[in-house]
Amino acid sequence: MPSLPEIMHRAFFRALSLLSPAGQEVVLRRYFDWRHRVPDPWRLATDGYEQEKYRSTLRQLPARPYRRIIEVGCSEGVFTRALAAAYPEAEIIGVDVSERALARARRRVPEDGRVRFIRADILTHRAEPRFDLVFCSETLYYLGRHERLCRASAQLGGLLGPGGVLVAVHPWPEAARLHRYLDAHASLSRLTEQVHTACARPFAVTVYGTRPG
Ligand SMILES: C[S@@+](CC[C@H](N)C(=O)[O-])C[C@H]1O[C@@H](n2cnc3c(N)ncnc32)[C@H](O)[C@@H]1O
Repeated sequence: MPSLPEIMHRAFFRALSLLSPAGQEVVLRRYFDWRHRVPDPWRLATDGYEQEKYRSTLRQLPARPYRRIIEVGCSEGVFTRALAAAYPEAEIIGVDVSERALARARRRVPEDGRVRFIRADILTHRAEPRFDLVFCSETLYYLGRHERLCRASAQLGGLLGPGGVLVAVHPWPEAARLHRYLDAHASLSRLTEQVHTACARPFAVTVYGTRPG
């Protein structure tokens, strides 16, 4: 059962998603700049639970020589730094709607040509379908209503190049609903899902591959 604060949180973001995509982006940008008025608002860099979640996510990735990685909703770059260490040859792009979060991400993982951070909204961002690893964690529940989740799924799937891998990580059991939008994407096929329940806040790591076109 979701808690009352969780129900109110989701209702708030569903209400925001009644705005046009451009209007939603403006409000999300302001909201997440405000949320990042203090460093690391979700304690991603220090909370043992978050660190363990990152480690189990990395363990679940199919072993491949990823060259082009994008992390959507990267916040202050905590997981981006882990990706940069795990794949030292890869070009890595972190995307977030909050410029304030990205200013801290750039201090955490200096942009050196290999790692870059871009301020953009996943719902409106235009990017080439050229990534061989797309990562989206703890972000889809901010996008709100059905139509925006369909759009987000199309956007995420559209980032993948041939043979690419997409990984989504969200709280369980809500992940079952959120990841269904990715299941519905014509060019994605689900490879694995691990549900981690032996922790205070259960979560699912779902891995997709591209269907041969
Ligand atoms: C809870 S944090 C998750 C950080 C990171 N993915 C992790 O799991 O450690 C969610 C992040 O998603 C970003 N975000 C929310 N909606 C977004 C959108 N529509 N486009 C891009 N980023 C978004 C927020 O600014 C915030 O930094």
